[in-house]
Amino acid sequence: GNNTTPHLTNPLVEKGVDLIDSPIPLLTWRSVIMGILVSMGGFIFGYDTGQISGFLETKDFLERFGEWNGTEYAFTNVRSGLIVALLSVGTLLGALIAAPIADRFGRKWCISGWCVVLCVGITVQISSPVGKWYQVVVGRFIAGLGVGALSLLVPMYQGESGPRHIRGSLISTYQLFITLGIFVAYCIDFGTEARPDTGSWRIPMGITYLWAIVLGVGMMFFPESPRYDYRHGKGEQAVTNLAKIYGIPENHRALLQEFDEIKEKYEYELSRGKITWGMMLTSDRMKYRILVGVALQALQQLTGANYFFYYGTTIFKGAGIQNSFVTQMILGGVNFGSTFLGLYNIQNFGRRKSLIAGAIWMFVCFMIFASVGHFKLDQNNPESTKTAGIVMVCFACFFILGYASTWGPMVWAIIAELYPSEYRARAMSLATASNWLWNFLLAFFTPFITGAIDFRFGYVFAGCLFLAAGMVYFTVIEGKDRTLEEIDTMYVRRVKPWESSKYVFPDDVTLGRDLASEQNGK
Ligand code: GLC
Repeated sequence: GNNTTPHLTNPLVEKGVDLIDSPIPLLTWRSVIMGILVSMGGFIFGYDTGQISGFLETKDFLERFGEWNGTEYAFTNVRSGLIVALLSVGTLLGALIAAPIADRFGRKWCISGWCVVLCVGITVQISSPVGKWYQVVVGRFIAGLGVGALSLLVPMYQGESGPRHIRGSLISTYQLFITLGIFVAYCIDFGTEARPDTGSWRIPMGITYLWAIVLGVGMMFFPESPRYDYRHGKGEQAVTNLAKIYGIPENHRALLQEFDEIKEKYEYELSRGKITWGMMLTSDRMKYRILVGVALQALQQLTGANYFFYYGTTIFKGAGIQNSFVTQMILGGVNFGSTFLGLYNIQNFGRRKSLIAGAIWMFVCFMIFASVGHFKLDQNNPESTKTAGIVMVCFACFFILGYASTWGPMVWAIIAELYPSEYRARAMSLATASNWLWNFLLAFFTPFITGAIDFRFGYVFAGCLFLAAGMVYFTVIEGKDRTLEEIDTMYVRRVKPWESSKYVFPDDVTLGRDLASEQNGK
């Protein structure tokens, strides 16, 4: 076939092959392995988020990269802030540049390629000589580019290639794997922390190679996204890939239909002309929703969850807990376990109720956590400090329970359903960038802020959570049990968010495409 024009006719029809109809298998070994393997991208994201909290309290790491303050080795705020936060600067950039590169070179090879970048970043960190803390910072930045790019490409590949009947579950698997990555990092940190040598941090860090190799090499055995191939003039290849992914023969009727849908959608997009960033940011249809996505991601970070995930080991050491590596493992376990609850909540209670209830729950937890930390920790009274520390760990667990069963998974799910398809990739990368921007600000400034106001920092998060509940009530439309077209229509029609759960569509409404013109007329 012609390898440059994207207007392809269906190769099956062209060749006049006989079509077969047979039931489509719900799960094939290929789709299961694909789901797990691709979720390794989320796992790596979580693993890198989790491992750093332990290093900040690991003896050899402190002696190599910390400063002698007269009594012990310690990190200055600038140092620990930079070491933790530079990963998020890299990820922010990675999330922004990954999409255009993947449009050019394909999803599959880019995923493998970014794994290589990640390995380079790990090598730079692992080989940092004594005293060269800034080499660790540079390495975290390079690794971050890889993690950020993967954080965008993995859900994108899953969305474009996943068999339609399990697409939703694939996206949820992604957050599940992020939390699993965090948890595994804590377990490994716990297992190696007591070693007297550099293995205490080089082993957990070096294990990242393993995850990157599994994902990077594994991807080579999977088909390219059929939608990408189609857009690049490889129609026959797109059909072959679809057949592999669904586990059905190439002349199956279902593939014919999906191929036609891909084609129709692409031609429709071409007919609308090239969509630019400017058009997207100024269109009436998108402006409001872009703000919603960016704000939701910012507020997800401002819930304060990463305050615990990044600095938990230090926080609980400060609260008098003997082995704060253990508490970190408990938090990681609660986070992973409660994510299953989150998947249940989103199906059963919907987004609005869950997010509002979650924010109120977390608000209460932070008020108690901060008050106990501020008023009850007392250097001169070890007994009261001990009780206070345990109460704080409990409320941190309650907090994580609330977070992981609502805001953690749901914000990622909402931004995947919030935007009409022609704008989706760009709008999602903006929202993802907002997540990483606030992730960075939080990671970097936490040591300074806690240095100045210690546990009262919790009141700041509580304040943000209060705002978050209000923001959801007034701006987020309920997407439970609605198709993507219905969600789009409700935003275009300016349905009041607080009435959206019960909204009944009037008979005259046309869903989907026609709305673009309806909106432009307004
Ligand atoms: C979400 C957040 C991420 C956080 C994780 C914790 O994925 O975006 O920053 O570390 O939840 O489970």
